[in-house]
Amino acid sequence: MDDLAYRSIAAYEQAKDQASAQPEAFWEAIANQFEWHQKWDKTLEYDFHKPEVKWFFGGKLNITENCLDRHLKTQPNQTAIIFEPNDPKETAQHISYEELHSRVCRVANMLKAHGAKKGDRICLYMPMVPELAISVLACARIGAIHSVVFAGFSAAALAARINDADCAMLVTADGGFRGAKVTPLKAIADEALTHCTSIKTSIVLKRTGQEVAWNDIDVWWHEALAEVDDHCPAEIMDSEDPLFILYTSGSTGKPKGMVHTCGGYMVYTAYSFQNVFQYEKGDVYWCTADIGWITGHSYIVYGPLAVGATTVMFEGVPSYPECDRFWEVCAKHKVNQFYTAPTAIRALQKHPVDLVSKHDLSTLKVLGSVGEPINAEAWHWYDNHVGKNNCPIVDTWWQTETGGILISSLAGVTPQKPTYATLPMPGVQAVLLDNEGNELADENEGILAIKYPWPSIARTIWGDHERYKNVYFSAYPGYYFPGDGALRDAKGNYRITGRVDDVVIVSGHNLGTAPIENALNEHPNVVESAVVGFPHDVKGNALYAFVIAKNVVADHEALIAALRALVAQTIGPIAKPDRIQVVSGLPKTRSGKIMRRILRKLAAGEYDQLGDVSTLLNPEVVEEIKRNS
Ligand code: PRX
Repeated sequence: MDDLAYRSIAAYEQAKDQASAQPEAFWEAIANQFEWHQKWDKTLEYDFHKPEVKWFFGGKLNITENCLDRHLKTQPNQTAIIFEPNDPKETAQHISYEELHSRVCRVANMLKAHGAKKGDRICLYMPMVPELAISVLACARIGAIHSVVFAGFSAAALAARINDADCAMLVTADGGFRGAKVTPLKAIADEALTHCTSIKTSIVLKRTGQEVAWNDIDVWWHEALAEVDDHCPAEIMDSEDPLFILYTSGSTGKPKGMVHTCGGYMVYTAYSFQNVFQYEKGDVYWCTADIGWITGHSYIVYGPLAVGATTVMFEGVPSYPECDRFWEVCAKHKVNQFYTAPTAIRALQKHPVDLVSKHDLSTLKVLGSVGEPINAEAWHWYDNHVGKNNCPIVDTWWQTETGGILISSLAGVTPQKPTYATLPMPGVQAVLLDNEGNELADENEGILAIKYPWPSIARTIWGDHERYKNVYFSAYPGYYFPGDGALRDAKGNYRITGRVDDVVIVSGHNLGTAPIENALNEHPNVVESAVVGFPHDVKGNALYAFVIAKNVVADHEALIAALRALVAQTIGPIAKPDRIQVVSGLPKTRSGKIMRRILRKLAAGEYDQLGDVSTLLNPEVVEEIKRNS
């Protein structure tokens, strides 16, 4: 495969011009660099009103042949995955392309031996160990649709996702290491499975060695693997066959299972990976995300492997055993591209800088940021202390739904601007809209929208195409609406200003407020609740819950602790509100709608920006909330 990256501003400009003049020809040329069993009949078919999007329609391929087999011809001994365990005393693993291919084929055969077949949904609930990446690829190998559930989610959240996709198989582990904690994954999965009937087999990887309960459907990974060989021809897939489902929160209680398909997702993740990070053969690239999120799918597994890169997988957390772990790992594995989240940078920047400077970071060439807006202070700290003012920073804007990075600078090729994601990638047509859906020109602020499909756009919400239409294509007909606001400078650079819906980004995690409210409302002493985000210096945003209690609350602390535990149990610890205030009422309009705008101001302590509250149904509660906050 040729180098997919534009290495100069001239090459970039040329690509941008071609992409806007002849978008289909532009994407065809990129798609042509991959291995297809059969070329597509139609490059693009789309209608944002229906909505429907099909890329490389009629094409036949298997993404794992492009991520694995293809590289065996040219670089079998190249390291594909470097695994850095949670405990630095445990030896790191270097897995070559040849070994990865063999291990993926073996696991694929193991899945098949236990009944998995093309089109089945397989839920992966696993720690960040190589076997997770291998399981992802093994599903893709046999045409099963993987649904990775982040290992920090609760039993209830796991069960909801298994049931939504009607998964036939679960792959999990006895437990997972994360910093000083051991998560009992098997026990959580067992609890989840008491609410699921579709799972016929549960394959359990031994990672921590802890005691686990055993059920009829359970199979040890190592025992099942010993029964199969590593010869597994790839299932031939249609370009538009689903590759995976990944859940993201929405503004109603039910998570949305975003569906990505084989052909377009492969083309776009490889293209964006190589261009944004300017990856060069032999570089060591590290994305610190978890494979439970889209960043891990696209930029730990598929994008890097599709271009034959060396990708680091880290099991642990930035603060274990000390707060210099990221920098220690960068030095240890001579990392060239480092991609992390602003929340991690803000947490690490609170520690003395010699925790950074004592490590040799001279191999770093590119730094990346993802998941939320990066504030100026964090940007400059990252630039000064990690990049030594010598590494371009790519601030990459995208979503679970977009599959790949849509707005970002290309490292060292296009100009960066602190706090700005900068320019749309060639082939991405971003616009700003006003509230009525009119396109805004020039320097402006408004609602971000995309007016032409790109190959990795999610095709639907699993089992609910109507919701897909309502959430992304109805508010501004003819456009894809991501739910973010943005401003644009005179040079066309975009700065993402944040969500314009009821989703709050906490520590880079996308959390809908509705599911958290539903969880709070489950408590016998809660009548109603409203959750909003408020600014937090490390997490970016934190959650503030206002709850109305049924009965007089004698012990506030006990109720608050119970509510936090309830949220952790229903959704996961990441969704626990930082603050919970018991109130006698919520500010409402006369028609009964909760005034979240006012709650946001109250949560942020911006009392002078409340505006006119006299038209509320119950203006007195505003005073009460202020008094008791
Ligand atoms: O609000 C935007 C924010 O994260 C949302 C998407 O979250 P999720 O689907 O979980 O995917 C996160 C990883 C891609 C977006 O709608 N977001 C993501 N990247 C940025 C960002 N906000 C500002 N700047 C970014 N670079």
